[in-house]
Amino acid sequence: VVSTPGELLSVAVRIAREAAVTARRMRDEAIGDVQTKSTDTDVVTAADKAVERQVVEALKAERPGDGVLGEEYGDSLSVEPGAVRWILDPIDGTVNYLYGLPQYAVSLAAERDGEVVAGVVINAATGDEWTATRGGGAWRAGRRLGGSERTTLDQSLVGTGFGYDPRRREHQGRVFAALITRVRDIRRFGAAALDLCLTAEGSLDAYFEKGLNLWDHAAGGLIATEAGLTVAGLSGEPAGGRMLVAAPPALFAPLHDALVELDAAGGP
Ligand code: IPD
Repeated sequence: VVSTPGELLSVAVRIAREAAVTARRMRDEAIGDVQTKSTDTDVVTAADKAVERQVVEALKAERPGDGVLGEEYGDSLSVEPGAVRWILDPIDGTVNYLYGLPQYAVSLAAERDGEVVAGVVINAATGDEWTATRGGGAWRAGRRLGGSERTTLDQSLVGTGFGYDPRRREHQGRVFAALITRVRDIRRFGAAALDLCLTAEGSLDAYFEKGLNLWDHAAGGLIATEAGLTVAGLSGEPAGGRMLVAAPPALFAPLHDALVELDAAGGP
């Protein structure tokens, strides 16, 4: 099935809304088993798995030819050229979810030939919803998003996050300690997909994080890009696991240069 980005977005929004309802309901009723993954601080709940299963089943029923990459169950078979691969984080912000903090999200993106073409992020606790299609802009509640107008780093509110590996955290902590003296302040909300959406709408001036997985940033990265932000790694690298920086063009250069100077993409 050849679908336009708009058609893929409609599918994504419908399925992500149902997923957000499940996540919210399980949070209210019983989040079930809590297990650890890569480290003792990296948790996964039965709800993460249940939401992922629900989304994968809905996608398979509606679009059997597509592939799916999900945080909890891994990748499906490789997809044919031109076919769609869905990239899913069933609950981004799992630690917030565990504690009942209202900052956790369903993130679902459609990728074709290595390029994300549609994406939706829904804060499952509040119902807030951000969407984008490639070339079609980024939107929240009917309002087109354009990022912050701030141009200087020392006046900027910058979001970031930390991985689960203690050695990586040590390095990230050093970068944090040096950067905090150069910016207005730093926020760590605990869900990368939402951080990207907050930056897209200008509630944060900029965001950076090392060590993200594709499911954390696929949808949010498109939303930030379509809001006119520069989304990239350091020193000309694409945004990815080594580093992702999202900032309005005027802020990107000073933040980028500070992060290079602090070797933010280095370390474990
Ligand atoms: C995590 C969150 C967090 C970020 C971590 C991610 P998860 O995703 O997005 O904000 O700092 O790097 O792994 O584990 O809650 O899906």
